[in-house]
This record gives sequence, C-alpha cells and structure tokens, in this order.
Amino acid sequence: MTSSSTSHEEIRSLVAQRDAVLLAHNYQRPEVQDVADYVGDSLGLSRQAAATEASAIVFAGVHFMAETAKILSPDKLVLMPEPDAGCPMADMLTGEQLARWREQHSGIPVVTYVNSSAEVKALSDICCTSANAVEVVRSLHSATVLFGPDRNLAAWVGSQLPDVEVIAWEGWCPTHDDVTLEQVREAAESRPQAEILVHPECRPEVTAIADAVLSTSQMLRHAVSSAAQEFIVVTEEGLLHALAKAAPGKRFSNLTPGMLCADMKITTVEKVRDSLADLKTEIEVDTEVAEAAAGAVERMIALG
Ligand code: 13P
Ligand code: SF4
Repeated sequence: MTSSSTSHEEIRSLVAQRDAVLLAHNYQRPEVQDVADYVGDSLGLSRQAAATEASAIVFAGVHFMAETAKILSPDKLVLMPEPDAGCPMADMLTGEQLARWREQHSGIPVVTYVNSSAEVKALSDICCTSANAVEVVRSLHSATVLFGPDRNLAAWVGSQLPDVEVIAWEGWCPTHDDVTLEQVREAAESRPQAEILVHPECRPEVTAIADAVLSTSQMLRHAVSSAAQEFIVVTEEGLLHALAKAAPGKRFSNLTPGMLCADMKITTVEKVRDSLADLKTEIEVDTEVAEAAAGAVERMIALG
C-alpha cells in the first residue's frame, strides 16, 4: 500500500488509462514497489521493457534503467517520474573515455555493465548486469576483456573465471564500495546463524566472505529457496521490503549504518502519479546511439 490508499488506487487507474506498465527497481521506496506492475533487478526490468505490449513504460528507478528501456522499446513512450535520479557509477565512464580506452586496447572485446550511459553502451560489444556478468564474459571465449565501469564487478568476474584477464575501468558504486569487511564481520558475529548475501558491486574482500554473491533478484530467489531462516543482506536497504514480502517469517537485516542509494529514494508515489497524469518526463535517446546501444543490450538478452 502507498502512504495513502487514494494515491495507490489513483495510480493504478492512471496506469490503466494510459495503457502503461509501471516498472520499479528492488531499491525503490516500499510504497513505490507496492504500486508497480513489476519489481525486479536490472536484468528482469530490461526483459520486461523489451517484452511489454503496453504503450508507455513508467520507470521508477535511475536514469540508465529508463534509458535502457527506451533503447529496447524505441517506439514506446518512456517516462521517468524523477528524471534527476542518476547513478554516480554510470557517470564515472563517459563515451569519450571509453572510445580512448578501446583505442589503447584495440582488438579486445568491451563488456559494459548496464549501469552506464547509452553512449557508452553504443561503444560496447556486449552489456551485462550483476545477474549475468560471469556468463556474459564466459560467452565471449576471449583470453582478455575490457570491463567497465565497475571495478568491483570486474574483480568478481575475474575471480570466477581465472583463465580470463579482466581489465577493469576504475569506477565504483559509492553505496556498495563503502562497505567494509569489519562492518560485515560485526554483523556476522551478532547473527552467527545468518547467511551472508553480498552484491557483486562490493569490494573483493567483502565478496570473499559471502555465503552467496548475487544480484538483487537472485537474492530474493535464494532467500525463498534456502533452508536458512536468517540473512545479512549486503546491498541497498530497499531490497529488505521485497525480501520480507517474498519470504515472510524469515529474518533479514542490513548493515550498521544501513546502505542507502539516495538516487533510488528520490522517486515518490506522488511523483509517479504526476508522471502518469502529466505524461512526464519523457526519456529520449538519439536514434543512432540507441541503435548501436541496442545491439549490445540485445546480445546480452539473447544469452538467456
Ligand atoms: P541489480 O541489477 O542487482 O538489481 O543491481 C542494480 C544496481 O544498481 C545495484 O546497485
Ligand atoms: Fe548506482 Fe550504486 Fe545507486 Fe545502484 S546503488 S543505482 S550502482 S549508485
């Protein structure tokens, strides 16, 4: 439910009137997640955006996610309730920087995390998300890959594929990179029965002590199927709402202090309602850039 049931009903009625689909990332505010048609990780949301038959996609997430939806569904109206919601990591690699990096390492395939701009995707051979990064890199059968912008996801992939040299761009997610080994150890000491689930955007010393390294939706599926009753969830705290719904009765905790992505929290139900009522803010991507970027994203989706 939203903070007021009127706005929940109002939003659902506007979604129907606009023939829209409302997509929300697992880190969104609980009331935004509860009013959405689909809540998921970057891979699941991309698949939904590619497959939807709705006329409009309203994206409650950050800019690169809405932009990816537009790249995959160029004829649809893609709206962001809060267009200022960005991703600091995506801003750490520009198209110009990637073009230069490619030139310096000519002939080496470029794998780009979807947390990147359309310009960066357009210069990439293939995209990946946190859910499929290892499979994507493996699929290239290349001894070396360039991987950007997340150095931590690159390190995680390298640890899983010891025969591949993963050359990383120096980007990172402030929310996940700030997590220290001491914080996780402290949480584990106070809850010794808990399984430790870690997002691969965390530093290598943190992923190394995890029971499982997973994307946000993989954490949801794992929490349901695991025999464990208690979990320490090392990712943005918005996921705890989705986890409590998916596995009622199990216990989930974040770290101290909690992990927050400010950009994920600036979208409110009021902004979602206004976005549907006033058809704003439209996300557009230059046609040539979108076509080149679509190749990299579709190659990823085609891997399954
Ligand atoms: P997921 O694809 O795992 O949901 O992650 C997206 C993201 O931005 C993590 O910080
Ligand atoms: Fe970007 Fe990190 Fe926020 Fe995800 S949590 S959107 S990677 S800043």
